[in-house]
Amino acid sequence: MQDLKYVKIDRQVCQWLREAREIVLSELNSQLTVETKSGRKDLVTNVDKQVEQFLTNKIKTQYPESHILGEEGFGDKVDENTDGIIWIVDPIDGTMNFVKQRNNFAIMIGVYKDQEPILGYIMNVVTGELLHGGPLTGIKLNQAEISNIENQGLSEGLIGLSGPLLVHNEYNMQTIGDSALGMRIYGSAGLEIMAVIKGELVGYISYLRPWDFGAGKILAECCGLSFTMVDGQPLNMLSSGVVLIATKRAHSDILTIVSQ
Ligand code: IPD
Ligand code: CA
Ligand code: CA
Ligand code: CA
Repeated sequence: MQDLKYVKIDRQVCQWLREAREIVLSELNSQLTVETKSGRKDLVTNVDKQVEQFLTNKIKTQYPESHILGEEGFGDKVDENTDGIIWIVDPIDGTMNFVKQRNNFAIMIGVYKDQEPILGYIMNVVTGELLHGGPLTGIKLNQAEISNIENQGLSEGLIGLSGPLLVHNEYNMQTIGDSALGMRIYGSAGLEIMAVIKGELVGYISYLRPWDFGAGKILAECCGLSFTMVDGQPLNMLSSGVVLIATKRAHSDILTIVSQ
């Protein structure tokens, strides 16, 4: 049974995301202001900041009791206390793609209440594909129901990997890649998680922070996918680490290789 309260919130957040998409599309061919954060591969643009401010203003106005964890710091200080409602916002996921390709990036929001998953959103900005919903509303890709994800093993599909893990062969990543039919590196955690949900990848492994997986965890688990740390341990919603999202069979295949 759908919970109508959450169906209404879902509709509203989808509308905010369509508006945020318009903001980004209007800047797609403009000159960006690009700054580095921790190093030359860690970028933030004026558009990342603008989108995060837009979304945090909407959330604060409509749901003032909420706490917001935003990648670019326009939210609240959310340390260890995960009680109440927390909105996790990644205004542009795949900022490097946004800067260098002007394509292949996403906007993501995850909503949790007392650590429980409520609603998740991954919007592919350029194509307009929006994956949205949660356990109390069901998951949709725009208006369409998600079809059952085939429970394929690692050897039957493509695996999404992060470049650094592969280059340094961490967690036996090269064997994992070699065991699949092929490897893909998209550069946007959100789009790779979306690809697993659409059945285009059997799994995805990357070092992720809370805003990289907050939305995807809700969506993927609702679709029957496994979402854990790379050693199979459960994820803490406020910590960072190497995360494994996969079909149940690919998840088990990957854990076997990681432990070798
Ligand atoms: C990054 C992307 C990338 C992943 C990085 C993330 P950002 O997010 O999702 O694919 O490999 O770990 O930080 O910084 O562009 O939002
Ligand atoms: Ca970033
Ligand atoms: Ca980001
Ligand atoms: Ca991100």
